[in-house]
Formats: sequence, structure tokens, C-alpha cells
Amino acid sequence: MKPVCQSARTADSGRMSAEILEKKKTLDLRKKHIGPSCKIFFSHDPIKIVRARGQYMYDEKGQRYLDCINNVAHVGHCHPDVVKAGAEQMELLNTNSRFLHDNLVLYAQRLQATLPNKLSVCYFVNSGSEANDLALRLALQYTGHKDIITLENAYHGHVSSLIDISPYKFHHLSDVEQNQFVHVAPSPDVYRGKYRADHPNPAKAYADDVKDIIGRVHEKGGKIAAFTAESLQSCGGQVIPPPGYFQQVAEHVRQAGGVFIADEVQVGFGRVGTHFWAFQLQGADFVPDIVTMGKPIGNGHPMSCVVTTKEVAEAFALSGMEYFNTFGGNPVSCAIGLAVLDVIVKEDLQGNALRVGQYLTELLEKQKEKHPLIGDVRGRGLFVGMELVKDRLKLTPATAEAQEVIYKLKEQYILLSADGPHRNVLKFKPPLCFTSEDADLVVEKIDHILTELEEALGLKLHNTLNAENDSIKRKLPAEENGHQYHSGLILNRGSGPGVPQQTKRHRR
Ligand SMILES: Cc1ncc(COP(=O)(O)O)c(C=O)c1O
Repeated sequence: MKPVCQSARTADSGRMSAEILEKKKTLDLRKKHIGPSCKIFFSHDPIKIVRARGQYMYDEKGQRYLDCINNVAHVGHCHPDVVKAGAEQMELLNTNSRFLHDNLVLYAQRLQATLPNKLSVCYFVNSGSEANDLALRLALQYTGHKDIITLENAYHGHVSSLIDISPYKFHHLSDVEQNQFVHVAPSPDVYRGKYRADHPNPAKAYADDVKDIIGRVHEKGGKIAAFTAESLQSCGGQVIPPPGYFQQVAEHVRQAGGVFIADEVQVGFGRVGTHFWAFQLQGADFVPDIVTMGKPIGNGHPMSCVVTTKEVAEAFALSGMEYFNTFGGNPVSCAIGLAVLDVIVKEDLQGNALRVGQYLTELLEKQKEKHPLIGDVRGRGLFVGMELVKDRLKLTPATAEAQEVIYKLKEQYILLSADGPHRNVLKFKPPLCFTSEDADLVVEKIDHILTELEEALGLKLHNTLNAENDSIKRKLPAEENGHQYHSGLILNRGSGPGVPQQTKRHRR
């Protein structure tokens, strides 16, 4: 096939564009050859991105987009130090981890130095899903138990074992049968959840629910292998668990002979600003038994890691089965992982996450005073959520409005997404080089969009307490950002982790 526009140059930089085909041709070929469940952002008007740098992405015409959502390009898209480290190592050697190589051990040592001492043994794998699947295997082998507790709205990956523990993927599908060994605890969401900010001790109440689940499992003759949770729930709606929750859950779970798995795939590597790992927000007295890492670890290079204790690792080895992973821990991935850690330190990106994250949160808090559609602003560092509601008392999710915000921002070349069980939480998780000017820009645009939306809805701060029945006066798109709406139920999802499983499933 003949390339159509191979030597196009981007308008703003003079650099060679990576565009080979005209946009329509790319779309046609995608429809023909790529599985239909692999959704695309803004499906009725998709964006073709051909290059990126820092917190910016560029389309085929050289149009720049501000990226507020890409937590994979952690230290900035195509960071030159990371690219250089990968390219240099690729020129020299890339092979599996059955040979001795310094990159592997030096990288393991560097990662370990960011963690509590007891988390000292690494397994390098290639994706967040692989990391979580291995974490489950470690837990099952170490404990000899089978039952897993997961959280409502959790997402942990796309492989079969993880769909089972990811209610985010199946909770709205009536024909999915839950795995009998999986138990779902309430999400520790103090805004919309079972126990809210006005509860005297939400951490204990949510942890007691986990204890109750353990009790019910025991009554049926089961035994707990693991409790698994993201340190801060991301797809679940940017949820910040109340301090002390993890400690109490860990106590109940360990008493039952289980282990605590902290999924840091989205939130690790300094994003939360005050700490390198988000589980550390709970306090120095909390240490998980297994930590899984992914997305930001390689700044876009497919790599990930599971870190655990010596005891868990030894029990895993005792099974007698060798663990071999063709690509995990190869010299190129380790060189890239080391470069990412170097850049975080060299450019003080954790400090930037703290400063810019705080600034962004303050700006959004000010917007909340002005806009009745904003129900809650929550976050740590550059992991921030803004939940839109049509009624601040009833917390009626403003789902269509959230999608409208996302769509209008896209028209103004800003990429943001909405998530959570009602898809009404605007989530900010940009590359950590995001600046306060970027924060000013996105908040200013959101301010305008919300003003327009509230005018259309006739919403004012003083009459928002009972606005549930207000209907939007102008037409909102039926499908935004890959989500389809039908009777308030999301049927499909285009961003992030993909599309729900549609088939009835029985396993184990
Ligand atoms: C919290 C969490 N864990 C695990 C995964 C799976 O990672 P991957 O898509 O790299 O397999 C994701 C992906 O979105 C995630 O958000």
C-alpha cells in the first residue's frame, strides 16, 4: 500500500511528522483490523496523535493538546533522558534475565530503596495486569488459601484472574456471575460511600465491613488469601481512603492468615507529592505484604514490577515451579526504569506534584464555591478528582454534564477524562511536569464550561439542593469519550482499561 503523506512536517516544529496515512484511512484500517472492543477516545471525532513532549501531545496537523490525564508519561512524554537510556542499552544488549546483568540488580536495589525495608524482593514483569496476576499467585501460594477480598468499583487489570476481582468491569452487567472465591467490600469513599465524612470513624466502619466479610467466608469454610486494593482508587472515582483504614484492614486480614496487596499501578512513583508511594499516605505504621507497580514505571515502555517480602518470595519458590518471564527485567527495561527514577529526582517531580497539585486543588476548591455542579474536590498531589453532581444533598451524579465538560475541553485542545461508577468524576492525573500555568488554563476553561452548563440547567448555588429533576435544556451528546448512556447505565467505556466482558462466566 502506498503511504499517503509520509514526509509531512508538523506546522509548529519543522520536525518530521510520524503520520504515514491520512486520518480517514487510519480510521478505516483500525475499524477493519483492530478488535471492536478496543475503544478509542472521542469515538465520533477521534484525535490522531503523532508525537508528544512533556505534558503536550500533537496531532497530525501540529495542533498541541494539553495532557491532563496521562499518568503513564510520568516524567513527561518522550523524556530525552529516558529515550536515550533505552536507545543506548538497545544498541548494546537486550536479553532475558537468565544471564547476570548489572541493570537488573541495580534497578531492583534502587526501587527497594524507595520502599520500607521488609519489601525487598522484586519480580519484573511487563504490565500492570501481569503484576497483579502474579501478586495473586504469590498470595495464594504463600497462604494456601483461596478467598480474595476486593473493593467495589475496583479495577486491577484485563486478564481473567483480574476481571474476577475488578467489579468496575462487571458490576453493571447482569449476566456476569461473580467468582465464588471473590468478595467485594464497600469502597472507602467518604463522599458518596456507605460511611461519609460526617461519620465518627469511617476508617473503622469500612474496615469492620471487611472483618464481617472475613467472618462470613469462615462460616462457609473458606479462608482468606488476600485483600487487594489500589492505594487510592482511580477508575473507582479518585477515592482517598480515610487514614487508618489500611492498618485496620491489614490487621483483620493478617489475623485470618491473608496478605495485603497494594496496587500502585496508577498512583505510585511520587504522584501523591508528599510520599513516593500512595500507601504511605496511610502512615508509617502501614506496610503492605505485596506492592504492584506499572504504568509510570517505564514512562511508556511496557514494564512493571511486583515487590514483596522474603517470606512470601520463599514460599513461592517452595512450590518447585520456576518463574520465568521472557521480557520481564530485561536490560533495556531496567535501564529505562533507572532513568525514570533519576529524572524524578533530578527534576524534583515529586516536589512539583506536591506544589502544582496543591495549587490545582485550591483552584478547584474556589470553583466549588462558585459552581453548584461541583460536589466534591479531592486529591493528593497530582492525583485529583472533581465530582460533579446535580444536587449537593442527594449527590445526584451529573454524568452527562461531566462528559460535556470533557468534550468541550477537547474542542479547546485539553485532554481530561471522567470516571468513577457514575462517570461523573473529572480526573486529573497529568505527567508530573504539569505546571501551575497549565492548571490555570484548564481551570479557567472548566469555569466557562460549567457557567454555560449551569445557565442551561437553570442551576444556581441557592437552588441546587433540589435540582434532581431539572433536565438539561440543550441537547447533550449521547455518547462521549466512549461511554454510551442508556437509562443512566453506562454500557461501554472507551478510555482507560477497556470494555466490560459481555459473556457469562464461571470459574474455579
Ligand atoms: C489500578 C490498575 N491496576 C492495574 C491495571 C492494569 O494495567 P495494564 O493495563 O498495564 O495491564 C490498571 C490499568 O488501567 C490499573 O488502573
